[in-house]
Amino acid sequence: MFGFNRVKKAAAVATATAAAAATALLSAPAAVAAPQPIVGGTTTTTTAYPFVMQITDASQNQFCGGTLVSPTKVVTAAHCMVGESAGSVRVVGGRTYLNGTNGTVGRVSKIWIHPNYTSVTDGEDVAVLTLSTSMPYTPAKYVSASQTSVYAAGTTARILGWGTTSSNGSSSNQLRTATVPTVSDSSCGSSYGADFVRSDMVCAGYTSGGVDTCQGDSGGPLLIGGVLAGITSWGEGCAQAGYPGVYTRLTTFSNLVTTQLNS
Ligand code: ARG
Repeated sequence: MFGFNRVKKAAAVATATAAAAATALLSAPAAVAAPQPIVGGTTTTTTAYPFVMQITDASQNQFCGGTLVSPTKVVTAAHCMVGESAGSVRVVGGRTYLNGTNGTVGRVSKIWIHPNYTSVTDGEDVAVLTLSTSMPYTPAKYVSASQTSVYAAGTTARILGWGTTSSNGSSSNQLRTATVPTVSDSSCGSSYGADFVRSDMVCAGYTSGGVDTCQGDSGGPLLIGGVLAGITSWGEGCAQAGYPGVYTRLTTFSNLVTTQLNS
């Protein structure tokens, strides 16, 4: 079993950070890498990516990302919504900075979690939130069920989020983005064994690591050709060589998402 990143709550990440950093310094000083963005990448804004949403608690503390796919529907990860209720979460649009107060705070009237979801390594890591009011931002298009060729190995994909900038690091106050190549299913299967479920997951990252999503990025978008094609789900550590990020393979769930958009 791998030591997967399943830390969801920003608070939990913050609490764990000091202890983990101290442990890392004590046990492996030479292996402590300089913190990098998202891991790897650059800062960006919700003006550039208006469909990228912060998923927060009722106090507007961000713990996951999401993607606006219609004025009142947001795609995120099922694992982000475990233990949550409609009243316990908010969707914040148009807010580039975690410590900002601008943008639009949306209340949630319904949380749909894939009915078969159990754990990230079993797949079905998709959820759709229905907002009580419309978001005044341009939604993203998402892949249709038939567009399975978008994941061809080596295709450039874009990741976005406010997650930690290194494994066990701290979150980024500003939205970050990076590009990573998709990885073939056979290669990802070699990395993760039976935990990689081809029908439900797609991997992206460089062989040598260095660029990846990390804790707090979950639920956010993997864009291919500017279209939502994946949802940040899991990985072994972050940005490690030989362990690409794993994303929900959205073509598999596209029709279900559409059903939620029309419900
Ligand atoms: N599970 C993490 C989250 O909840 C996302 C981890 C992604 N990890 C990776 N190596 N790409 O935010």
